[in-house]
Amino acid sequence: PLERTLSMIKPDAVGKQLIGTILQRFEQAGFTVVAAKLMQLTREQAEGFYAEHEGRDFYEPLIEFMTSGPTMALVLQGEDIIPAYRELIGKTDPTQAAAGTIRADFAESTRLNAVHGSDSPESAAREIAYFFVDDEICVKA
Ligand code: CMP
Repeated sequence: PLERTLSMIKPDAVGKQLIGTILQRFEQAGFTVVAAKLMQLTREQAEGFYAEHEGRDFYEPLIEFMTSGPTMALVLQGEDIIPAYRELIGKTDPTQAAAGTIRADFAESTRLNAVHGSDSPESAAREIAYFFVDDEICVKA
């Protein structure tokens, strides 16, 4: 099905001037950018986004990292994009990510892992609505 996913280019990748390189990978994969914004996440925004991880040992450092610099949030659209996008970015831990994936090429660690992607249609809907209002999404399904 034609799906949308919430993508983030995280502060490590933005800080390394990789926005254009990563957007090129998305477009070359056939994904359409239907919304985009560069945001300095507040602690409240980061905590709300990652609320499901509250209490995990990696939660506090994750919040620190995600508020350490600008993040680019994107809504990408394409056929079966939720699994296709996850394949393109690779596993969360870059040492486990397949060669040629975005995380294998650009992530430094499991925390500083360059990009985020929604893991299911339900989380995509929640995550897109967390950062974007309907008027900011430029293609109607
Ligand atoms: P993301 O896909 O954005 O979703 C949750 C994030 O938490 C994940 O990417 C990583 O950045 C981070 N994360 C998940 N597991 C760990 C871990 N074991 N150690 C450090 N960070 C983690």
